[in-house]
Amino acid sequence: MKTYIVGNWKMNLTVGESSIYLQKLLKRIKPAKGLEIVVAPSIIALQPLRMQLDKIKSKVKLAVQNFYQKEYGAYTGEVSVAQLHGLADYAIIGHSERRYIFGETNKDLRQKVAAAVRNNITPILCIGETENEKNFGETVDVIKDQLNGGLSEIDVEDMKKVIIAYEPVWAISSNKGARLAAPDDVAESIKVIRNELAAIYGKEIAEEIPILYGGSVNPNNAGAYLTIPGVNGLLIGGSSLISDHFVDIIETAKRVQG
Ligand code: PGA
Repeated sequence: MKTYIVGNWKMNLTVGESSIYLQKLLKRIKPAKGLEIVVAPSIIALQPLRMQLDKIKSKVKLAVQNFYQKEYGAYTGEVSVAQLHGLADYAIIGHSERRYIFGETNKDLRQKVAAAVRNNITPILCIGETENEKNFGETVDVIKDQLNGGLSEIDVEDMKKVIIAYEPVWAISSNKGARLAAPDDVAESIKVIRNELAAIYGKEIAEEIPILYGGSVNPNNAGAYLTIPGVNGLLIGGSSLISDHFVDIIETAKRVQG
């Protein structure tokens, strides 16, 4: 299975800055076999970055951070996944900031996952418990609920096109005080995810679904998270905005891959 290194730039960088940053990255990263490097800029930067990548036939991929689940229609201010066709290869769906700041529910998210699959954009469905849920011992229940809720429109065949990202909400943005998740705890949750996927789709399919880890990944801890059994890549926020760090993490992924 491929290893995925996904940089989520969130609401940072102007279009111009995004382009300059990508240029800088492209000079430093040499995509390796089996390694999928993806960046998720602001939606308005997708098109210029797409052109930049296409011009040099780069293998670096683009992800959209969010979209609206209907294809077309009277939805002022929204961008649909159909409109992103040809611009984004992946779509981050259900990031905790979407769930908790913008109130996205499992119902919205299952429609988004289905819409992405329908439009040949690979969904990266994010799941993870909050600090409170963790403290109340609800991690397993939350993981199962978010998986079942987000995937309920996806059948076995479509599931082959879906990626899951486990991001404990309490571990996101350590630069703002979040705690780092212990690799052993992450390993437990990854097992729960894989088992639940097996319960829904069967063991064989479940083994083929990429599961990424996200939450304050940096060059110092990337190796530890990447070597957790069942982890197939990383979703990186803060560190993806620092080119030295992002490049370091990619190098680590290459080493781990052997
Ligand atoms: P972080 O963000 O790496 O800054 O913690 C991860 C994410 O929100 O996807």
